[in-house]
Amino acid sequence: MSATNPPRTFHVKSFGCQMNVYDGERMAELLTAQGMQASDAREDADLVVLNTCHIRERATEKVYSDIGRLRRDDGTTPLIAVAGCVAQAEGAEIMARAPSVRVVVGPQAYHRLPEMVAAAAAGGRETETDMPAEAKFAALPRRRKSGPSAFLTIQEGCDKFCTYCVVPYTRGAEISRPFADLIDEARALVEGGAREITLLGQNVNAWRGENAAGQPVGLAGLAQALAKLPDLARIRYTTSHPADMDDALIAAHGDNPKLMPFLHLPVQSGNDRVLKAMNRSHTAESYLKLLDRVRRSCPDIALSGDFIVGFPGETDAEFADTLSLIDAAGYAQAFSFKYSARPGTPAADMDGQIAAEVMDDRLQRLQARINRDQLAFNRSTVGRRCTVLVERRGRQDGQWLGKSPWLQSVHFTDQAAIGDLVEVDLIEAGPNSLAGRRVG
Ligand code: 5AD
Ligand code: SF4
Repeated sequence: MSATNPPRTFHVKSFGCQMNVYDGERMAELLTAQGMQASDAREDADLVVLNTCHIRERATEKVYSDIGRLRRDDGTTPLIAVAGCVAQAEGAEIMARAPSVRVVVGPQAYHRLPEMVAAAAAGGRETETDMPAEAKFAALPRRRKSGPSAFLTIQEGCDKFCTYCVVPYTRGAEISRPFADLIDEARALVEGGAREITLLGQNVNAWRGENAAGQPVGLAGLAQALAKLPDLARIRYTTSHPADMDDALIAAHGDNPKLMPFLHLPVQSGNDRVLKAMNRSHTAESYLKLLDRVRRSCPDIALSGDFIVGFPGETDAEFADTLSLIDAAGYAQAFSFKYSARPGTPAADMDGQIAAEVMDDRLQRLQARINRDQLAFNRSTVGRRCTVLVERRGRQDGQWLGKSPWLQSVHFTDQAAIGDLVEVDLIEAGPNSLAGRRVG
């Protein structure tokens, strides 16, 4: 490889989950701290970072098509760095398949991105996929600017080993970031403009730490400490696991007013045989009982979930159990996916892989139920008065878009500014958003 000028502009493109969005922001901050300038158009940038997702096959394929698309009309390419979970899982393969890629950096090693980019510009090809994550967080610069709604990674990795999932391999073992670091980062985000912080982790409710008094605390204790930041109005967290919903966290939904009434609690399937084969540590019934306890603490909590259809061996009757669970649980929204066999996971070698048409049909039927319930939930909130955190301008003149406490998109037309928390009456509901009228 020949040497090039050190890049002066960069573009970070993140795929996949919210943690990747967070990582993408941190990489941009690192590069900015080196004196590089962010560029909105990736065609023009000297350096393009593709921050990739490996969770399902389609997500992985995107990497290679994106690399191809970075070739400019004159045949040159920017300096390409592949980051994220595909880099972790398939780093060597990417280097072999895509000669234009000069840097491969895994999700726990991206604090080294600036020096790797410098070495690549000097003519090298650099790979770093070390784990775990402690060194990374310590090496990241202090946060300065933030939108009204910010992400904060508090926990990373997963020890649950659901049989379909690559996360334990790409993100590594569970680690919790220290309490004091998180309070610091939250404070910096609030000073930089955040009014809402979403705490992130693959198993966010498995977070454990020691508070300022040296007492062991879980997510509820962290949320309690964060609630003391005067200018922070809202706290959210995602994604949680049913096995880690402890009593303190359930209670916090009833007594921490800054903790928003929203819970993303994936169940994946409503059938106990499938749940067992997935190595989920709950049954359909224990999940529903857990929801009862959460709702006793916070009656108007909005529930979200994740579903996989077509797990190996799933029969029609077993799939029907998932539909029944949806009816029993009452989701305000949910994400659903066709099972995708991931190399190296136990489920990829299981008998009874399901045909694509069967998966398509099941996904459609499941999504029809979820859509029905989402609309019903949105309609059930019409007539309520709530706060909306204003996040951006709407398409029409004077229109603003923001989020309700239940994470619904709400639009209204009135005087406001980004970052305002305004009182709104919800007056009309559609499947994906609501219309509000500002009070006063
Ligand atoms: N196939 C399909 N969906 C998957 N998910 C995780 N792994 C797979 C897979 N191999 C889904 C789960 C998880 C969400 C983040 O992605 O529903 O909760
Ligand atoms: Fe994957 Fe299961 Fe861990 Fe979630 S809990 S990241 S689905 S292994």
